[in-house]
Amino acid sequence: TDASGVRRFALTAGPGSTEMLAGTRTPTWGYNGSVLGPTIRARRGETVAFTIDNALPEATTVHWHGLHVPARYDGGPHQTIAPGARWEPTWTVNQPAATLWYHPHPHGTTEKHVYRGLAGFFLVDDEDTPSSGLPSTYGVDDIPIVVQDKRFAADGALDESGSTDVGLLGDTVVANGFADTYLPVSTELVRLRLLNGSAGRMYNLGFSDDREFDMVASDGGLLPEPVRLTRIALSPGERAEIVVAAGAAPVLLRAFPFEDGAGLDAPEATDAGVHDDFDVVELRPTTTLGPSAAIPDTLATVPSIDPNAAVARREFELQWFMINGQQMDMARVDFTSAVDTVEVWTVRNVDNWPHNFHVHDTQFQILDIDGATPPPELRGWKDTVYTPPGSTLRLALRFSEYTDPAMPYMYHCHLLLHEDMGMMGQFLVL
Ligand code: C2O
Ligand code: CU
Ligand code: CU
Repeated sequence: TDASGVRRFALTAGPGSTEMLAGTRTPTWGYNGSVLGPTIRARRGETVAFTIDNALPEATTVHWHGLHVPARYDGGPHQTIAPGARWEPTWTVNQPAATLWYHPHPHGTTEKHVYRGLAGFFLVDDEDTPSSGLPSTYGVDDIPIVVQDKRFAADGALDESGSTDVGLLGDTVVANGFADTYLPVSTELVRLRLLNGSAGRMYNLGFSDDREFDMVASDGGLLPEPVRLTRIALSPGERAEIVVAAGAAPVLLRAFPFEDGAGLDAPEATDAGVHDDFDVVELRPTTTLGPSAAIPDTLATVPSIDPNAAVARREFELQWFMINGQQMDMARVDFTSAVDTVEVWTVRNVDNWPHNFHVHDTQFQILDIDGATPPPELRGWKDTVYTPPGSTLRLALRFSEYTDPAMPYMYHCHLLLHEDMGMMGQFLVL
């Protein structure tokens, strides 16, 4: 933080190499190092300012996924940073405490940039959120974990060949960049901030002994109250914060096959890895555990957006690398939303492919999924949601504060191959 109270960060995207698999060096890309990036952390009300340098051999961008940001600093496909160039976004953080992330968004090459290792966490704190009682010592009992799948060639390089209909599907899962790794746990309870940072793979996460955990936050912040679960499904880009007891013996965080096939069990449906299982990371308790406070019964007030107040209703049909029959065109603005008004968006996956749906700049609420109230883990703030084949979801949302007559925000499928292929559109907020 400088004298004027601005919190300054410097990021350099560049190449390096990482020991993702024990004993092998894999060429990777990262921010300020060889893979992934530093965790950015700021409080609501603080102004953040970045200098971002591109030391990669090609143009990239840095997008603030889930953050409420002026369109010109959003880091989408219009804010490219040429090799050797610098980009300096700045804004005042104004959103509830949440686990967010940053990643490249250059049109057509996002999947490869993320797959090669470019991604990092962005944590927002908010003193007004009564989250006391949750484990919150970073790196001790509050741990971000990005889950990604990779495929390695014989020489240890990342294999980028053999794309499927949902993009690259790896056969090795890495946690924070490392395969077969473990996390020492020294407290009774540990909070894991889980991010699916994969290009196209879905995860159904849980523990090897099927122990219960409490989900306390979704993409955009704390849930109203903890939700007791044994599995949490995350499609690419989604996050979940969970609190779990360390127990007395090591336990594995695992990705399990989806019992319902995640809606992908129709004969010619494309599988997004939903029948696979993987060990993600081992939680290894120390012999004595420090005490943790019990999780509060109520976590946050999540004011509901009233769909009856909607001034605009929009429909989005997801099919075959397109939204509403059109592929992304950098020069086409698909619609304009009025600032500070409620909108209801109906999203339909009319494909037999898995897709999901992500909106920039805001967090939405899921009104219903195929006409039914969403399960409790999907009742908080979301910026990305899974849309199984044949499903219809209705979302309520509002864009606030920032307007721009020329610079659009994006909405898209967050299966990164689909996004790169043009399953994306853009809108202005005025
Ligand atoms: Cu996580 Cu438009 O991106
Ligand atoms: Cu985003
Ligand atoms: Cu898709």
